[in-house]
Amino acid sequence: MKILIINGPNLNLLGNREKDIYGENTLHDIQNLCDNECKKINCKCDFFQSNIEGEVINKIHTIEQNYDGLIINPAAYTHTSIAILDALKSVTKPKVEVHLSNIYSRDEYRKKSLTSEAVDGMICGFGANSYVLGIQALKNLIEKNND
Ligand code: DQA
Repeated sequence: MKILIINGPNLNLLGNREKDIYGENTLHDIQNLCDNECKKINCKCDFFQSNIEGEVINKIHTIEQNYDGLIINPAAYTHTSIAILDALKSVTKPKVEVHLSNIYSRDEYRKKSLTSEAVDGMICGFGANSYVLGIQALKNLIEKNND
């Protein structure tokens, strides 16, 4: 099993950025957490971050040929990017959207996720643990797919 984890804009600043909302963990800490979780389930995992919409889209285009599933935190693009939504729609592999914060308990403009229309499910509000829960959910979906 091999999965891809994509992180959108400003997530490279985690650990410094709005700590009251996003917590103390850096993106590197989250990568370590994901690596550990993936090891437990015998899964290879590539971890990617970009602040550039087109780079996120190009990475999504690699999934079909190279991965069994996707975890994505599109960050602010969640609420704005029809281009990322369309890219996600082209992927037939299982997909889980994750967010550190509970996007439904924040600003009005964060309550709408455009990208979640194209994923199997979404996990938000559990801090870095949203990624761990996302990996567990994705594993179940991949296994169901392979049955
Ligand atoms: C976020 C939530 C988004 O609204 C925000 O723009 C982010 C991070 C989260 O993980 O909680 O950058 O995706």
